[in-house]
Amino acid sequence: MNNKLLNAKATLPAYDRNTLVPRIVHLGFGAFHRAHQAVYTDILAAEHHSDWGYTEVNLIGGEQQIADLKAQDNLYTVAEMSADAWTARVVGVVKNALHAQVDSLETVLAAMCEPQVAIVSLTITEKGYCHAPATGQLMLDHPLIAADLQNPQQPKSAPGVVVEALARRKAAGLPAFSVMSCDNMPENGHVMRNVTCAYARTVNAELADWIEANVTFPSTMVDRIVPAVTAETLDKIEQITGVRDPAGVACEPFRQWVVEDNFVAGRPEWEKAGAELVADVIPFEEMKLRMLNGSHSFLAYLGYLAGYQHINDCMKDENYRRAAHALMLNEQAPTLKVKGVDLARYADLLIARYSNPALRHRTWQIAMDGSQKLPQRMLDSVRWHLAHQQSFPLLALGVAGWMRYVGGVDESGNAIEVCDPLLTTIQAAVKGSAEGESRVKALLGIEAIFGNELPLEARFVDAVMHAYKMLLEQGAKATVAQTVSQK
Ligand SMILES: NC(=O)c1ccc[n+]([C@@H]2O[C@H](COP(=O)([O-])OP(=O)(O)OC[C@H]3O[C@@H](n4cnc5c(N)ncnc54)[C@H](O)[C@@H]3O)[C@@H](O)[C@H]2O)c1
Repeated sequence: MNNKLLNAKATLPAYDRNTLVPRIVHLGFGAFHRAHQAVYTDILAAEHHSDWGYTEVNLIGGEQQIADLKAQDNLYTVAEMSADAWTARVVGVVKNALHAQVDSLETVLAAMCEPQVAIVSLTITEKGYCHAPATGQLMLDHPLIAADLQNPQQPKSAPGVVVEALARRKAAGLPAFSVMSCDNMPENGHVMRNVTCAYARTVNAELADWIEANVTFPSTMVDRIVPAVTAETLDKIEQITGVRDPAGVACEPFRQWVVEDNFVAGRPEWEKAGAELVADVIPFEEMKLRMLNGSHSFLAYLGYLAGYQHINDCMKDENYRRAAHALMLNEQAPTLKVKGVDLARYADLLIARYSNPALRHRTWQIAMDGSQKLPQRMLDSVRWHLAHQQSFPLLALGVAGWMRYVGGVDESGNAIEVCDPLLTTIQAAVKGSAEGESRVKALLGIEAIFGNELPLEARFVDAVMHAYKMLLEQGAKATVAQTVSQK
């Protein structure tokens, strides 16, 4: 086994990795999990003698990441990057790595059915939940779900795999585990509960009753900016540590994790590594989704259209910086229920984090999967403003920016590679409408995103229409400048 990473110039796992027990099965060994939850757990092992370890699983995509991890004895590097310094840590808490299509689904299900498994956690992106973002409910006609329901013992979707593992545990007389979503969705635990229970009820009512009685679905608020890994990132990590690590990942120094303390079979003492374990995560989630993710999406669409490739490029444009700050404080903060947080300070900190020149966070990456993101990042706040008779020009501009973006052509006439699970529906709306007013109306008609009441709200439709026309006539930079100067 190649242990080259144990020679890296980095903080190394100095604890005995043999004593780790894989009590957590994590679905979605992507960039974010590697730099977030796994780091908290690694700090516990390194500094607090914790023996909680992971089985890492990718269900769909990410074959190479699992192969890379296996090839280096399940070790990988996390580099923290700021303007002045990069520091690195080799994470040692992974015991096993599996891919459902490479190692077989049976191996994955067997790992989830090991008696000691206490938690199944997930970072599978919003689309992995197979729910309608506007309602949070499972889409029974989602192709993966429809196929899994035909053959529930051989599932491919995350809800299908979780339910099959729970069914096997129940049949074997084993205790249930907690299911913890760490994806960016409001009430992510409730969404996971909804899709799991709805799926299970369609398979077997008695199983659904058992899950409802025995499984908890803690919600979490997760925060750390972890850009997609590029060859440049890996080169830079190699320069710092002296070791090439294809499974390496780089992120900002900041990290935050607020977890609903509701676990059925125990949990690591993540609070010792800086997490906040609380009774109610929702106000924190809402704050982060609307202020951070909402302004990120705004910058992603308007920034991409203007030719800004990275979030820190947007921050060099004073109008974009002011617009992001005004969006956070004037249009998102008033909608929040969170108590005891200085939101002005939070907004200032976010602008400082976005400006980190070492963070090459691509606007294109944040722009993807907009259909899954707009409801919680912008549209819930729009509903608040409509109910409170307030105006929301920047939220309207963000929605209009998404519409221009999914139109598929940037302001220089170049094609945009739009990635979205609802791409077919979005493209049908784009192709079936003329540019301008009818394009806006066609996109507003996508119920899975806008629901059925927002498109009937004249104030919303007019505000988006106004912003969209400005984008067409003047382009993104001038529209952002003009909108923010009117605030
Ligand atoms: N990257 C960040 O800065 C960041 C910050 C906070 C939260 N998050 C959350 O983490 C999620 C993952 O982000 P990432 O940066 O790790 O992305 P990534 O592209 O590196 O990884 C995505 C992971 O999701 C899995 N996946 C994709 N589609 C799936 C599906 N349909 N079913 C099951 N698994 C699927 C892939 O196998 C992979 O492991 C985000 O969508 C977001 O909700 C990311």
